[in-house]
Amino acid sequence: MVHTCVSLLVICSVFVLAAGSLRNLPTVSFEEGYAQIFGDDNLLIVKDGKSAHLSLDQRTGSGFVSHDLYNHGFFSASIKLPADYTAGVVVAFYMSNGDIFEKNHDEIDFEFLGNIRGKEWRVQTNVYGNGSTGAGREERYGLWFDPSEDFHQYSILWSDDKIIFYIDSVPIREVKKTEAMGGDFPSKPMSLYGTIWDGSNWATNGGKYKVNYKYSPYIAEFSDFVLHGCAVDPIEMSSTCQLVPQFKSVPTGITNESRTKMQSFRKKHMQYSYCYDKTRYKVPPSECVINPHEASRLHGFDPVRFGGSHSRHGKRRHDNQSNRDAINSV
Ligand SMILES: *[C@@H]1O[C@H](CO)[C@@H](O)[C@H](O)[C@H]1NC(C)=O
Ligand SMILES: *[C@@H]1O[C@H](CO)[C@@H](O)[C@H](O)[C@H]1NC(C)=O
Ligand SMILES: *[C@@H]1O[C@H](CO)[C@@H](O)[C@H](O)[C@H]1NC(C)=O
Repeated sequence: MVHTCVSLLVICSVFVLAAGSLRNLPTVSFEEGYAQIFGDDNLLIVKDGKSAHLSLDQRTGSGFVSHDLYNHGFFSASIKLPADYTAGVVVAFYMSNGDIFEKNHDEIDFEFLGNIRGKEWRVQTNVYGNGSTGAGREERYGLWFDPSEDFHQYSILWSDDKIIFYIDSVPIREVKKTEAMGGDFPSKPMSLYGTIWDGSNWATNGGKYKVNYKYSPYIAEFSDFVLHGCAVDPIEMSSTCQLVPQFKSVPTGITNESRTKMQSFRKKHMQYSYCYDKTRYKVPPSECVINPHEASRLHGFDPVRFGGSHSRHGKRRHDNQSNRDAINSV
């Protein structure tokens, strides 16, 4: 398992000169990094093994998982989403160890939620730690481009004290570990996954719009796989390699310049954040950094959900359908 790290480090050094862009990172072929987990013929390896097409039709979706489990690192894929009517279709690129830790798994997610024709895809990010599935930490965003028109790069940086989500070279979300988060911050080695599946029950307006197989197959294209992490032995869960910080092309945190980009992205494109959802959390969880611009933007979308105690619409919701249904119906 350790050899992956070593060989990645060698490849990395070639790219040291290309600092600044997330586009010039060392990539691996599909088969070097991943294996199919479901969907038989619905996963197709293309472009000399550099890309994979994942499709969803009436029979099945499809998905892949990394050969290795990683403890921290920088992971990305370029993804082109299916076009046109995609209600109920979910494409996900995420880290998880749910198959090893059934009761206390960790997860870091990019989830793409399909939409009715003419309305753009939305992207959701989420984090669970040690089985904290009762405390969703979802955020949702619109995008500044049509993600079905071309490939865009979606990346996860995971270190022991923070998680940063990137779209292309723009950091869109930073989750800093706080002491109060405790085990809710992902801490155990995880694998990478890419999947497409039928999320009719919750994905689009809380399940109002189902997958319409008249428009299938729905094909998501994955390419430019970056797996720059410490692979661990799956039995002992230990790793003998250290991430080497001198590879400047691999980000280790947010620069001032990119923080400005992140703030501007969030101000324009964020449509949902658990930190501001008063129907779920009367007091924002400890890691939330309340930003007045974000608060006022979300308040404009939904004064009740994102309202303060001054909300004239007042009445809090006490029904507890699952969090997931509740927030997806926004
Ligand atoms: C994670 O969960 C397990 C089992 O529920 C518990 O024993 C452990 O203390 C938790 N770890 C952290 C870091 O909270
Ligand atoms: C980045 O921003 C921080 C806080 O505003 C400031 O203290 C620091 O000097 C800045 N760093 C650079 C390299 O500009
Ligand atoms: C609803 O929430 C209350 C309090 O949080 C809890 O005790 C109850 O079990 C929940 N009911 C359902 C159906 O989830």
